[in-house]
Amino acid sequence: MKFTKSTVFAVLPALVAAHGIDNLHARHVQARQAPPGTLVVAASSSSSVAAAPSSPAASPPAGSPASAPPGSPPGASTSAPAGGSTPLPSFTLLATNPTAVPLSAINSLQPSSATIPLPSTAVVGSTPTFLTNAPPLPNAALLNPTNYPKLDVPPPIDSPEVQQWIAEVQATGVEIPNLNPTNPGGCPNNTAAAADQTRCWWTCGGCTRSTDVTECPTALDWGLTYDDGPSFYTPNLLQFLDQNNLKSTFFVVGSRAISFPATLQEEYMGQHQIAVHTWSHPPLTTLSNEEIIAELGWTKKVIKDVTGVTPNMMRPPYGDIDDRVRAISLAMGLTPVMWTRISPLATFDTDDFDIHGGLTTVQQVLQNWENILGNVTTMTNGFIVLEHDLFEQTVEVATGYILPDALAHKPPFNIRPVVNCLNRDLSDAYIETNNNSTNPPVFSAAVSAGALTTTSAPAGATGSSGSGSGSKSAGVSLHTSSWVSLFGLVFGGALATHL
Ligand SMILES: *[C@@H]1O[C@H](CO)[C@@H](O)[C@H](O)[C@H]1NC(C)=O
Ligand SMILES: *[C@@H]1O[C@H](CO)[C@@H](O)[C@H](O)[C@H]1NC(C)=O
Ligand SMILES: *[C@@H]1O[C@H](CO)[C@@H](O)[C@H](O)[C@H]1NC(C)=O
Ligand SMILES: *[C@@H]1O[C@H](CO)[C@@H](O)[C@H](O)[C@H]1NC(C)=O
Ligand SMILES: [Zn+2]
Repeated sequence: MKFTKSTVFAVLPALVAAHGIDNLHARHVQARQAPPGTLVVAASSSSSVAAAPSSPAASPPAGSPASAPPGSPPGASTSAPAGGSTPLPSFTLLATNPTAVPLSAINSLQPSSATIPLPSTAVVGSTPTFLTNAPPLPNAALLNPTNYPKLDVPPPIDSPEVQQWIAEVQATGVEIPNLNPTNPGGCPNNTAAAADQTRCWWTCGGCTRSTDVTECPTALDWGLTYDDGPSFYTPNLLQFLDQNNLKSTFFVVGSRAISFPATLQEEYMGQHQIAVHTWSHPPLTTLSNEEIIAELGWTKKVIKDVTGVTPNMMRPPYGDIDDRVRAISLAMGLTPVMWTRISPLATFDTDDFDIHGGLTTVQQVLQNWENILGNVTTMTNGFIVLEHDLFEQTVEVATGYILPDALAHKPPFNIRPVVNCLNRDLSDAYIETNNNSTNPPVFSAAVSAGALTTTSAPAGATGSSGSGSGSKSAGVSLHTSSWVSLFGLVFGGALATHL
């Protein structure tokens, strides 16, 4: 089945608008001094590079909520332009790509540029040598979209596949906290849930648990990630990564894997890490348990069908996770991977996503990047940043500016996939190739660490003692990390829910 740009991207406006709600949060922008010989970027028209586009869309009024559809929680971000008092962006880059698209040409109004063909390293039936015991590469041409749910909408929960995954989650014996799904509209529309610290809802204040990956343990390590692809522009990013011997983690949307299976194979065979980012990109805390299982299950399945292996890491869209979503993810063998947060309201989000929709400018995105750099150099641990390979703007800012600047950083960053920055092998990123003796499987590791509780049914047992019964005690337990523990969180005995 062949996809055109218009059919594949027809659904994107909702995604664009959903991400745009981040702009409701004010932030501070800090100017940095320009050493001689570096590229100076400023928003004034006398800058050494072209100024921001002056279309009204390039600078929307701060706090305009019209762009946010119901269903998208506002996430705290370093990236939202503040109201009238925000200084204009002004910063320097140590290096840029000589072939970079000029900043003046990266905006919401730019015409689609040419995409490059995929290199062809993916040979059907070949066995990846960079993984231990990897299965042969499937034939992506045989992927039949009619065997999968409709793209870009939450999959139905009554299919045999989803019923099977529900039964598998039940069979783990996991106790899923009895938390109601959140309302659409994020923190402002969920005052009780947002204030309920036992829920540990990352979206509203940044609560994390010990099972969340939020950073790399080693200073100057950058766990490189790109979300929401594969897309038409992913090959451009892959080419730059290849040329610079960089490997990334890709958080793949299941629907995009159906649209671009060959690109997903190219990422996988290029020794990048493949991980799960849901089927239709909803805020997961708004879904029922069964709907969450369907979103994660179909994405695991399509990635396995295309690559032969099943990821063991996931990133919740919008970072929208609470203890209910955590328990389900872990029971499905998926470790949540967030991006680094430095305060309740500031995360390492470049906001690159919002250039396409005109909700921010490329200059602002680079200012966000400079603010991230300003913070990481004082951190005792490494970091993870939110970026995307969905739009040409996001790829152009990455390959033209952010990555060249990062590669020129002194002292040098160690840029690598999240699984590697956690000091594990790439093989340990997939359920089938994971070395279970050195890296215990996700769910059993979480149970052993006391981060999850189970009913009497041991992990892997068939059947579920909990099926049909309404009240079980406890759930995800007390483990918190970093500043979140300052809130003195206590997990009250929430009741497990029905699946
Ligand atoms: C707030 O939640 C209610 C109840 O789910 C919903 O009907 C309403 O649309 C939500 N408001 C927004 C702005 O999303
Ligand atoms: C760290 O990030 C915050 C939030 O974006 C920003 O206000 C601050 O200026 C940054 N610090 C440095 C030293 O750049
Ligand atoms: C690790 O365990 C999983 C089941 O959880 C299994 O599929 C996989 O093959 C095992 N890994 C290895 C290298 O045998
Ligand atoms: C797992 O790692 C250990 C220690 O490095 C090694 O001895 C063993 O062979 C590995 N197992 C597999 C299945 O690769
Ligand atoms: Zn996303």
